[in-house]
Amino acid sequence: MKLALRAPAKINWFLSVIGKRGDGYHEISSVMQCVSLFDSISLERSGSIELVTDMDLPAEQNLIYKAAVLLRDFAGYKGGAVISLKKNIPSAAGLGGGSSDAATALLGLNRLWELNLPVSVLAELAGRIGSDVPFFIGGPLALAEGRGERLTPLSLRSPVWLLLVKPSLSVSTPWAYGHYAPKLTKKVIDIKLFCLSLDRKDFVSLRQMVFNDLEEAVSGRYPVIAEIKEALLKSGAVVASMSGSGPTVFGVFGTREEAVAASGRMEGHWRGVVSTLTAAGYHAEHEEVS
Ligand code: C5P
Repeated sequence: MKLALRAPAKINWFLSVIGKRGDGYHEISSVMQCVSLFDSISLERSGSIELVTDMDLPAEQNLIYKAAVLLRDFAGYKGGAVISLKKNIPSAAGLGGGSSDAATALLGLNRLWELNLPVSVLAELAGRIGSDVPFFIGGPLALAEGRGERLTPLSLRSPVWLLLVKPSLSVSTPWAYGHYAPKLTKKVIDIKLFCLSLDRKDFVSLRQMVFNDLEEAVSGRYPVIAEIKEALLKSGAVVASMSGSGPTVFGVFGTREEAVAASGRMEGHWRGVVSTLTAAGYHAEHEEVS
């Protein structure tokens, strides 16, 4: 048996940093959203775990490899798998690519190895790999709290078009969290109102609710992020914000055509026109079996 899977990228509609915890992590509140940009992963049974990829990173440091070893050891499985990874999602971009790959590997290997572990167990293992990994076990839209692992699924009926723009630099997540400046007054988002605004494409309301507490520090160090955001808004984005710990900025557009036209004006950066994934499309997009 061979499994061919697609691992989606994400954006953070908003990311509120609530405070620093005793364990070195930060308490957050964020709405995370899967988008139609995918890494491709294929899995085939083998005697040992092997990762085939053109990524410039030792296999042992790759989250997908760590996920496979963790699952095998947890389940006491004796075999392995050849895991082939084709990257389309830029790395260290704030788009959750590595986390999504790891979650997709857990889901896929659970089937390939016929372990039949429940999703709740996979989500717990995912949390050991990284804060964003549990989100990708469930997807495609959820409120993430705690350090990101406490999830409440949300739903969106119709997709929204986005233009993703990433300057050619990488941001370290620990650096971003280590340099954000706590604000005296915190924005508190009404999640029901947020979902209603998203569903109705009420971009005026949405504009008040899309923000990222890490953005000020990261764009302070890399001013190109603020320039991209400004350019997106000038190009017709109804709202724009940095995703995760950056440096990717997303702009929301009324139509795909508008997003494509704006992309043509952003030369010099990596760009992707994507749509948000809704629950209906998510599983079909996520699991491609051959
Ligand atoms: O969980 P993950 O390994 O992805 O986190 C990487 C780093 O990002 C952590 O070591 C921590 O410095 C920072 N982080 C944080 N609070 C979070 C998530 C990540 O401080 N909620």
